Amino acid sequence: MNKTDAKERIAQLTTELNAHNHNYYVLSSPTISDYDFDMLLEELMRLEEQFPEFADGNSPTKRVGGDVTKNFETVQHKYPMLSLSNSYSKEEIIDFEARVHKLLEEEVEYTCELKYDGVAIGLTYVNGQLQRAVTRGDGTQGDDVTTNVKTIKSIPLQLTGAGYPEEFEIRGEIFLPRSEFDKINKEKEAAGEPPLANPRNSASGTLKMQDSAVVASRGLDCFLYSILGENLSLGTQYENLIKAAEWGFKAPMPDKKYIAKCKNIEEIMSFIDYWDNARHDLDFDIDGIVIKVNSYDRQQRLGFTAKSPRWAIAYKFKAEQAVTVLNKITYQVGRTGAITPVANLEPVLLAGTTVKRASLHNADQIEKLDVREGDTVYVEKGGEIIPKIVGVEVAKRPSNTPVTSYITACPECDTALERKEGEAQHYCPNEYGCPPQIKGKMEHYIGRKAMDIDGLGAETIDQLFEEGLITNIADLYELTADQLLPLERMAEKSVTNLLNGIEASKNIPFQRVLFALGIRYVGETVAKKLAKHFKNMDALLAADMEELVAVDEIGDKIAESILQHFEDQRNLDLYHRLKDKGLNFELSEEETAGASDRLAGYTFVVSGVFHQFSRDELKAAIEQNGGKNVGSVSSKTSYIVAGENMGPSKLAKAEKLGITIISEEDFIGMIQ
Ligand code: IVH
Repeated sequence: MNKTDAKERIAQLTTELNAHNHNYYVLSSPTISDYDFDMLLEELMRLEEQFPEFADGNSPTKRVGGDVTKNFETVQHKYPMLSLSNSYSKEEIIDFEARVHKLLEEEVEYTCELKYDGVAIGLTYVNGQLQRAVTRGDGTQGDDVTTNVKTIKSIPLQLTGAGYPEEFEIRGEIFLPRSEFDKINKEKEAAGEPPLANPRNSASGTLKMQDSAVVASRGLDCFLYSILGENLSLGTQYENLIKAAEWGFKAPMPDKKYIAKCKNIEEIMSFIDYWDNARHDLDFDIDGIVIKVNSYDRQQRLGFTAKSPRWAIAYKFKAEQAVTVLNKITYQVGRTGAITPVANLEPVLLAGTTVKRASLHNADQIEKLDVREGDTVYVEKGGEIIPKIVGVEVAKRPSNTPVTSYITACPECDTALERKEGEAQHYCPNEYGCPPQIKGKMEHYIGRKAMDIDGLGAETIDQLFEEGLITNIADLYELTADQLLPLERMAEKSVTNLLNGIEASKNIPFQRVLFALGIRYVGETVAKKLAKHFKNMDALLAADMEELVAVDEIGDKIAESILQHFEDQRNLDLYHRLKDKGLNFELSEEETAGASDRLAGYTFVVSGVFHQFSRDELKAAIEQNGGKNVGSVSSKTSYIVAGENMGPSKLAKAEKLGITIISEEDFIGMIQ
């Protein structure tokens, strides 16, 4: 096939596959068999491989995933992502409607929408192409999860229809349909893995996975609920969402009553009542109804309070409750030594699942509820993973039941529990002798963001600990095949895998080893800062309080924690043992070479294609020299490093804000 034909066929396949995706995932009316779809997709993949110059970042082949994101870039939101004020009673909705009415002094039209219970996402489209997907984060900045979002089949990569603004943002909620959630949990159960807790947490966890191929396999979905932009042609919420559906988005469908226009409080109430009942038949979770003033103009007149719009409110459905008997109170010890009391219940059906255990939080909570073994209790499922006990039916209490007395010693290691002043939780202080705490440290060490040891998971740590083969992370490096082979579930292949994985961890860079040590308050970012500043462990160990707090973003709390950690001889011994085993406790020459503070205080946006660097290398070079990368252009941007094919909207914005645009060569000049 020649180039012209290839280009044409790629364009044709792209349009065709996009349309099939839309029919299947947005409209739920497939127009092709799975087999035929796969054939077309494979053809496109082959052509893109053969003619990479025509492979587009928004090709339907991106839906399959495969690209890996090591670190999600932080991106500033163009429009802050606020939250809604919640109400739990209909009186508050009546008050809201009356308030709006009074402020506007005229008849008001509202939209009523479902409040999807998932993860908020902001999608930016430029010239009809999905450009970026960012999570809510703290509301002003979030994580760039574009690669993962491209695998969500109901999110269009390329818009259809006409009339969409050149650049706009559309916001919605990513969720895991219940049927997908159940399917995954069945598979997990069959594989002996722990189940996912609930669809919402699974959706947010999935969105932040590094491997987009796994994300693609998870069946996430997305409903859109608002459009933001400067040149929207329509002036109302409802009509814009209907328009969005024409462009290919999964917007709420009026025919399914997912959205309705309401003229008065009676209509609003009847929408709420309908869904309070009908929500159980949906294949996704909703936790309430959102009521919004329909006209943008009126929304603007009403404005915002500090945290939320005055033109919208969420009515939250009441959490479902069940009544059952509490058989026994047991106590769990967490990785940090925190004790959690657990209510073991007579199994009861609650919101579609059988509940056997519920959290009792802490000693104060038990005292406040005066809950006792044998009591008839009310169990409630809120947004939390674990249901909780919210009340006791005292009238049903059997006579002579003793008041619950909280344990005083650790149920795992019998050490006397401690409770710091002002804290609700009891702790087991036996950090180095209490099994769940020891295992917890090791689990943190092998975790994906830490040492990421292949072939080693929490279950194996458990097994090796129970067998007495490991009691701390350094012991891992002394394991031998002879010790492992006789163990249950350990075949030759898994043993080789495990030992190779442990060996390979010696190549993990210093900053991750530092994070893996599990020093309190030393998370990923802090570990990076420390590694970069001190360059090796011995320099870090030699640092005093003053030197530590002099490091960018290290405050008293972190500094104290580091000092305290290494005051303990056991931690020092552990470090020396790990060092002897060959772990990385200094930055490699490569990592220190070329590093400087030359770009400190400057913020960069990198856009386009480059010759001497890949885009990631360029970003790494910026960080290595003390600069900061951001994803979108704002007045705070110092420079834009522009390559070929820089995004036109970025260019226009940069020019408007008067930000200096530099070339790859200029940049190299800056760091040399
Ligand atoms: S509108 C200014 N509409 O609920 C806030 N939000 O606390 C505008 N949500 O984080 C939000 N369904 O992720 C809106 N139909 C809906 C929604 C919805 C779910 C989420 C959203 C936001 C939270 C609001």
